[in-house]
Amino acid sequence: MAAAETVTNSAIVADYRARTPGSGALFARADRLLPSGITHDGRYLDPWPLYASHGRGSRKWCVDGHEYVDYFGGHGAMLLGHSHPAVVEAVQRQAALGTHLGASHELEVRWAELVTRLIPCAEKVRFTASGTEASNMVIRLARAFTGKSKIVRFLGHFHGWHDGVVAGGTSNFDGSVPSGIVPGVVDQSIVMPTDDVAPTLALLEDRDDIAAVMLEPSGASWGQVPLPAGFVAALREATARQGVLLILDEVITGFRWSRGGAQEAMGVKPDLCILAKIVAGGLPGGAVAGRRDIMDLIDFAAMRAAKRDKIPHPGTYNANPLSAAAAVAALEIVAGTDASAKAIATGERLRDALRQVVIDEAVPWGVYGQASSFQIFPNPLGVKIDPATFDPLALGFKGLKGARDAALSGKIRMGLMNNGVDVMGSPGGFVSATHDNADLEHTARALRSTIRALKSEREIRG
Ligand SMILES: Cc1ncc(COP(=O)(O)O)c(C=O)c1O
Repeated sequence: MAAAETVTNSAIVADYRARTPGSGALFARADRLLPSGITHDGRYLDPWPLYASHGRGSRKWCVDGHEYVDYFGGHGAMLLGHSHPAVVEAVQRQAALGTHLGASHELEVRWAELVTRLIPCAEKVRFTASGTEASNMVIRLARAFTGKSKIVRFLGHFHGWHDGVVAGGTSNFDGSVPSGIVPGVVDQSIVMPTDDVAPTLALLEDRDDIAAVMLEPSGASWGQVPLPAGFVAALREATARQGVLLILDEVITGFRWSRGGAQEAMGVKPDLCILAKIVAGGLPGGAVAGRRDIMDLIDFAAMRAAKRDKIPHPGTYNANPLSAAAAVAALEIVAGTDASAKAIATGERLRDALRQVVIDEAVPWGVYGQASSFQIFPNPLGVKIDPATFDPLALGFKGLKGARDAALSGKIRMGLMNNGVDVMGSPGGFVSATHDNADLEHTARALRSTIRALKSEREIRG
């Protein structure tokens, strides 16, 4: 059944439907042609997703003309806000010069110079068309370099949608085999818990078939399930000792947790990292970056000299001129201004403001997050929580991401949208360098109204 046919008595959902008839009409057309009517699972919303028309700075507008303070942030890509003038100018200039010249070009060189200048582990970099592609390549590099096959990953840590990272990362958290993926692929990953680093350290001691340990340095889903203090540093120390590679997935955290990513913020240098989203200035793109001796596995001359097979790496849209133009414009701003730090400071103020609303409304929810991101924990199972002292570490994967109630999260999102704010569905989101105090005040008011609407629908459990 199409999501739009779902019956509900919720006033929040009824308001959303009434405010967004243009989105509803587009969804009716889309639902006939696109699975679930959408193009990214993260945009699924019952009865229909929001159809946006344009964005500027911290704001975006839907096809029905409503304005939103936007924290979806292009899935985390829009650190500089929507349609930053320098990025727009660079993309327009390049579009007129050619979108794909079937040749190497200067922008890809400048792009690589910026990445290697900003990201501590990046001695060399190879661009891809997405984070998923970078994730696929980084695992292949690790296996080729070490001659070992197993990848240690962590429960709920998302590394894109390729076969090797779905089980335990996107779905099948119970260890079962995801639909469409062969068991042999699943067997090549060892998915570990994150409440304590000790079992992973013991695993690294015990086994000699591990190529790499790969993780989101924020914790699963950009910190929805945060890591205990010292977790990443302990992995760095143990992997270095055991000759295992450490891969940080900085697709979200790169340029956001600090100008140099989580690795700079934490002072932990991985062997390899992957980047996407901000790295391409809000256009499609990704990158693998890291140690020269590992990256040499993609290098013709290095592999000829070593008499080894080179890892093939084509990709029509790798470092395509439009993405490269946006990337160079954006990363020059990241390198030359306090954009990352400004977004982080605003993120902290936003978390404080939202937490205060939750406290004032006496709702047993948690507000938390790192750097320029925030998470709202709506406590679907009604655990006892004091919002003033909420510690997500106490709940772990099972209590946080594992307890997520999609219907409740969707209602919170719609409630916020009815009040002019858009967030990601966890619920949570990303703050840009363009969000300001007026945005924060507006967002706090929107959360207050949403909570009150949820209370009147008896959706809040204490
Ligand atoms: C941590 C992380 N890794 C990898 C990816 C995959 O990137 P992409 O969507 O560009 O394929 C994402 C995307 O959200 C991500 O958040």
